[in-house]
Amino acid sequence: MTDAWIAVFDQVAESYDTVVPFFSSFGQLTVAALPPPAKGTRLLDVGAGTGAVALAARLRGYEVFAVDGSAAMVSRLSALLPTVQVADAAALPFDVATFDVVTAGFVVHLLSDPRAALREFKRVLVPGGLLALTVTGPLPEGFEPGDRSNELFAEFSRYLPADGPANTAFDARAALASTGFRNVTQEHLEVELELADPEAMWRWYATHGTRRFFDALDKERREEFRQRLVADLAHRPEVVLRRAASLFTART
Ligand SMILES: C[S@@+](CC[C@H](N)C(=O)[O-])C[C@H]1O[C@@H](n2cnc3c(N)ncnc32)[C@H](O)[C@@H]1O
Repeated sequence: MTDAWIAVFDQVAESYDTVVPFFSSFGQLTVAALPPPAKGTRLLDVGAGTGAVALAARLRGYEVFAVDGSAAMVSRLSALLPTVQVADAAALPFDVATFDVVTAGFVVHLLSDPRAALREFKRVLVPGGLLALTVTGPLPEGFEPGDRSNELFAEFSRYLPADGPANTAFDARAALASTGFRNVTQEHLEVELELADPEAMWRWYATHGTRRFFDALDKERREEFRQRLVADLAHRPEVVLRRAASLFTART
């Protein structure tokens, strides 16, 4: 797989989710929203990364399988979850109706063809099977992010090269409906995590997919972004990472 996102996740795999347990916190919230598993309930976690969802699901009692497009992510996760393998979300190496549940935490909106992946999730799910996926945002009224990142991203996106990472909007509800999923639900999830110091916010950004944005900026702009992010946080009474996600569930 030579996708630009895969290259970024190969690059950050070793440090992913190590600065602050951001993804594992959302993974735990996602799994807590699933129904309790019966014995032998099979769950496939797609784009598993370092196991934010997959490991929480196994702890809850699901029989967990996982795939990720990044060989480096799979290599790291395989030490904890031997059933993980390299595979593309849109070409899963499993038979029709293999799983009771498919999960995808912060994955589908990154894909070049999200609908192709959703059709593939449907193929490997049993009839009536459950899909649960998360996408970032939106922040609800009164839940302030606690940092200036959003303004800085908006400002600095004008310095990205024309072939740089595009901020493509993904309408999960529409995509689920158009691929034949039914009983769609949407739930709001949020996490608030204290960071060790202002620099930790920068380190957090450098250890997940946002790294792609920074790598596309030239060196001086990247350093300017870092300095302004850190300077703003240094003036705040607390250094806190506040983010929200939407959890969509649907049935085949
Ligand atoms: C933001 S991370 C989320 C990881 C994990 N689900 C979590 O919640 O922390 C996105 C993951 O999707 C994987 N990914 C990206 N494109 C993919 C594709 N086409 N097929 C399979 N995995 C893919 C990346 O390698 C990365 O591990």
